[in-house]
Amino acid sequence: MTQTDIINRIKQLKAEKNAIILAHYYTRPEVQDVADYLGDSLGLSREAGKTDARIIVFCGVHFMAETASIISPDKKVLIPALHAGCSLAEGVTGYDLKCWKEKNPDGLIVSYVNTTAEVKAYTDYCCTSSNALKVVESLPKDKKILFVPDKNLGNYIRKVTGREMEIWDGNCCVHNPIDAEMILAKLEEYPEADVLIHPESSCSHDDRVLHHPRAFMYSTAGIIKHAATSPKRQFIIATELETIHELQKQNPGKEFIPIHPKAYCGQMKKVTLEGVLEALEKEQHEVRVPEDLRRRALLPIQRMMEIG
Ligand code: 13P
Ligand code: SF4
Repeated sequence: MTQTDIINRIKQLKAEKNAIILAHYYTRPEVQDVADYLGDSLGLSREAGKTDARIIVFCGVHFMAETASIISPDKKVLIPALHAGCSLAEGVTGYDLKCWKEKNPDGLIVSYVNTTAEVKAYTDYCCTSSNALKVVESLPKDKKILFVPDKNLGNYIRKVTGREMEIWDGNCCVHNPIDAEMILAKLEEYPEADVLIHPESSCSHDDRVLHHPRAFMYSTAGIIKHAATSPKRQFIIATELETIHELQKQNPGKEFIPIHPKAYCGQMKKVTLEGVLEALEKEQHEVRVPEDLRRRALLPIQRMMEIG
């Protein structure tokens, strides 16, 4: 089958089966191009909650499809790459959180959405990189915050808000190597460019970066918005490099320079066009969470959605 045949068959099956394809910006370009909705973690969760489709084919890693299934239990959520994991989600368990909470009974647990359903079930509030600041700022000032699992996003939020926070020692293996030295060297190499940085990077709380006039910290969707609205022509992209596919599509006249050729999430690349087709054809790899667990995991997601 040629790529065009696969794409045509995907389109045909989508219509026949009333299915929708949701894809994260870090998936392969050809997968992004067949998606009905392309987004970051927050956008994808919102979309999963409002679609009328019978089937959601979730092109992303496992925790994302699981989150979609928690939000939309009446939909059949399929994941084309069943074993697409995430170093952040794998860095903490529900039992870890239970013990942490027992030691800090007055603390509020804020979990990044990059976690399993089990972890969400022990969580007070979820957040994504788009709304973490807003979520933390909305919480009572006298409460200590237990932030899990990304230490770089947590350190960034603590620095900006000045809140009392305990932070879990997890990291994203793709963003963590992006440090301040790397950012400063690239800014020197490209004196006209802005650098757009994902807060999972280890430079997230370095003053040399935070106070640099050409450095900006955003979620993936924020990076895309900045590039579209800025009068600048050149941008250094300090996040997963497939994001450049959408950036270039939206801004053909602008230049995007990847921070490093290894800022590449191999887990997201496990989703292929062939995998999407097979998932649709066989309605296979359904992600479903046991009802009791789902209800508990939904609560912190709903609280997050209410905050914005
Ligand atoms: P966002 O989609 O919130 O930007 O998060 C990035 C990420 O690493 C998702 O896996
Ligand atoms: Fe997980 Fe990092 Fe890959 Fe996102 S980029 S899915 S946080 S490993």
